[in-house]
Parts: sequence; C-alpha cells; structure tokens
Amino acid sequence: MSTVPSSAQIVVLDHPLVQHKLTRLRQAQTSTAGFRRLTRELSLLMCYEATRDLALEPVRIETPLEAMEGCLLSGKKLCFVSILRAGNGILDGMLDLVPSARVGHIGLFRDHDTLEAIEYYKKLPDDVAERDCILVDPMLATGHSAAAAIARVKDAGVRNIIFVCLIAAPEGIRHLSETHPDVKIVTCAVDRGLDDNGYIRPGIGDAGDRLFGTK
Ligand code: URA
Repeated sequence: MSTVPSSAQIVVLDHPLVQHKLTRLRQAQTSTAGFRRLTRELSLLMCYEATRDLALEPVRIETPLEAMEGCLLSGKKLCFVSILRAGNGILDGMLDLVPSARVGHIGLFRDHDTLEAIEYYKKLPDDVAERDCILVDPMLATGHSAAAAIARVKDAGVRNIIFVCLIAAPEGIRHLSETHPDVKIVTCAVDRGLDDNGYIRPGIGDAGDRLFGTK
C-alpha cells in the first residue's frame, strides 16, 4: 500500500465540521443538490486554510466609539485556477470568501496511449504572474493532470501556488511532491489509494458526474 511521502507539504483539515460534511459528501445516496451544497461549504473551509498566509497591513479606522488600528489584506492579489470540469464545483465557495479574486481555467485530457495530459483549454488572467494562485480540483488521484496544470501556471510566471482538493490519494501526493515540491496541498482527507480504474478508494466516485448530475 502507498504511504504519504514525508516530504510532501500537505495540510489535512481534520476539523469536525469538515469531516462531517465530507462523510455526507461521500455517501452514495447524497443528491446532486446536496453534493453541490456540501462541496461549496467544504470549499469555503478549504479556502480559509489555503489563504492563511495572506499578508496583512495595518490600517487606522474609526469604529462608532473610537479610533483603532485594524488590519486589511495588503493587496497581494489572488487567482483561483479551476481544473476543468470538476474544479468548477469548488470555485463557487472560494469566490464566496474572496469575491475579488480572478479566475483561470485549464482543461486537460489524458492521451490513452502516452498517458500524457493534453491541454484542450487554457485561459488565465493577463496579470496572473503578479498573483498568488490557488489551483482547485476535487480529486488528487494520479496527480498527472494536477502536475500538468501547475506546470502551465508556472510557465505563465506564477511563483506561489497552492493546490486544493477534497480528497487526495497517496499516489497523487507522491507525484506532486516529486514534480512540484514547492506546492503546498490542502485537502480534507488522504484516502487509501487508487483502484484499477483510477478512482480514489473509498473516495466519492466521479466528482464531476456527482456535481453536475451527469450520471
Ligand atoms: N476523479 C474523480 O472524479 N474521482 C476519483 O476517484 C478519481 C478521479
């Protein structure tokens, strides 16, 4: 059985609310509407963790009672990058928390012969190189499409990248820690591993199908 490499920079959200919502999400009988709502709620909580290190600057303000020094985000800009299509399910919750963030999309499919990730869509903000990027995809399975998407974002000049997923497989964590050791992973769970069809077990099934009701 695979184990999580100790070199991986990974944060697993063990908060009770996260674990409760993730368990509801995993259940086969959860409806499409319920799956979407839970994904959005979990995304908010993952976003909270992924943005933990954003810089703050002091600011003088007036409350109704007196002046004080508060703090506001220092203006360092963020970009969320969704790995199509299931990444879009995570975007909504992220944007609830950071509505001013820019959004990029990357679409990849796997060539069955070479197993290489082939890009079919990429749209990133023009100023993405000046932003910190949070890449989102519900499932970190083999890690190949995540690594390919991260490479494209790095090619666009981005230096600070965090990868956010609902569930990670040890295989995917290992692949990312080998290919992009500088990228931190934020996830709600590390599952047992991949089955012969590339599904994470016990997992949640096909995240895209469950989000969009395509099955
Ligand atoms: N993608 C999914 O949607 N589910 C998995 O289990 C693995 C990859």
